[in-house]
Amino acid sequence: MIIDQFQRKHNYLRISLTDVCNLRCKYCMPNEDYPFMPKDNLMQASEIEQIAKVFVDLGVDKIRLTGGEPMARSDFDDILKRLSKLPISLTLTTNATLLHRYIPQIVTAGVKSINVSLDTLRADKFIKLTKRDKFDLVYKNISLALEAGLKVKLNIVVMKGTNDDEILDFIALTKDESIEVRFIEFMPFEGNKWEKDIVMSKKNLLEMVSSEYEIFPKEKELHDTSEPFGIKGHLGSFAIISTMTAPFCAGCNRMRLTADGKMKNCLFSKGEMDLLTALRSGQDIKSLIHKNVWQKAEKLGGQMKSNSLSEINIENLKNRSMISI
Ligand code: GTP
Ligand code: 5AD
Ligand code: SF4
Repeated sequence: MIIDQFQRKHNYLRISLTDVCNLRCKYCMPNEDYPFMPKDNLMQASEIEQIAKVFVDLGVDKIRLTGGEPMARSDFDDILKRLSKLPISLTLTTNATLLHRYIPQIVTAGVKSINVSLDTLRADKFIKLTKRDKFDLVYKNISLALEAGLKVKLNIVVMKGTNDDEILDFIALTKDESIEVRFIEFMPFEGNKWEKDIVMSKKNLLEMVSSEYEIFPKEKELHDTSEPFGIKGHLGSFAIISTMTAPFCAGCNRMRLTADGKMKNCLFSKGEMDLLTALRSGQDIKSLIHKNVWQKAEKLGGQMKSNSLSEINIENLKNRSMISI
C-alpha cells in the first residue's frame, strides 16, 4: 500500500503516454511551437508495462491513460494490450479524434468508461478553441463509443466569455443521452494565460443550471474529483470539478507518471521523481515511489494556500504545462 503522511491511500495511477496532441487547446498547450519531448525520452511500451506492474504490486487498482492525446502514440494498441492483462480498472481520457480507429481494441482491453474532452458543441467555436476542424469527427466518435457500450463522461473546461454560454446546451444534451457532462473550473498552468476572472466557479455554475432545471445532488465517492448532480427527467447527469474554489484533496488517491517517466505525487507538485532513469539503470523503483508519495503536500501541491480566487498567487504556480503532465 502506498500512503502519504496524511494517511491517504494511493491506488490510482494516471499515465501520460505522450505529450503529443493533434489539437491545440490554449489552456493546455502553452504555444503553437511547444517543443514536444524527444522520442528517446519517452517510456517505451515495455517500460510502461514494467513500471505499471510495480505500482500494481504496491496496491494500485486503477490506471488512467492520458496525454497529450494517448491515441496519438503509434503503439497505443500494444500498450492497451499489455496493461489489459493487469488486475486493474483501465480507463482513458481522450479528445476522441482518433477513437474510431481503436474502439474494438479499447472494448477488448476491458475498458468500461472513457472521459472525453469537449469544450463546445459548436463546430465554428471548436475550430477557434482547438485550431483544428474536427468537431463533427469528435461528435460522431462519441456516438460510436456509446453504441459500443462504453460509459462516456464529457470534460468541459468552462471559461467565462468563451463557452459559459453553452452550459445549458450541454445540460440539454443529457436529456436523452445517458452521459455525464462535467464542468471543470479552469486551472492555472505554465503559460496558459489563467486569470481569476475567467474561472466559472462551482457556485456560478450551480446558480446557472438550477435557474433552468430542477437538480438534485447524487452520492459522491471520497476519491472523486467531481461532485455529481441529477437533473429531473434527464437520462444523463452533470457534475462539477471545483479544483480552484473547493478542492477535493482530502480524499486524494492519485499519482501521475509523465510520458518521460517522471512521477508526480500531485497535479500541482513541482518536485518529480525520475522513475524511468532509475528503471533503466536497474534500480529498485519501489522505494522511490514510496518516498515520492510520502513527500506529498496536503493540498494542491502546497502551491495554493487559499481557495479564494483573488488570493491565488500565479507566480507560485510555475509548473509544467498541462500537456506535458
Ligand atoms: P475519473 O476517474 O473519471 O474521476 O476521472 P478524473 O476526473 O480523475 O480524470 P480526467 O482525466 O477526466 O480529468 C478531468 C479533470 O479532473 C481535470 O481537468 C482536472 O480538473 C481534474 N483532475 C484530474 N486529475 C486531478 C488531480 O489529480 N488533481 C486535481 N486537483 N484535479 C484533477
Ligand atoms: N484547467 C482545467 N482542466 C484542464 N484540462 C486541461 N487543461 C486544463 C486546465 N487548465 C483538462 C482537459 C482534459 C483533462 C484531463 O484536463 O480538458 O479533459
Ligand atoms: Fe490530489 Fe494534488 Fe489533485 Fe489535490 S491537487 S486532488 S492533492 S493531486
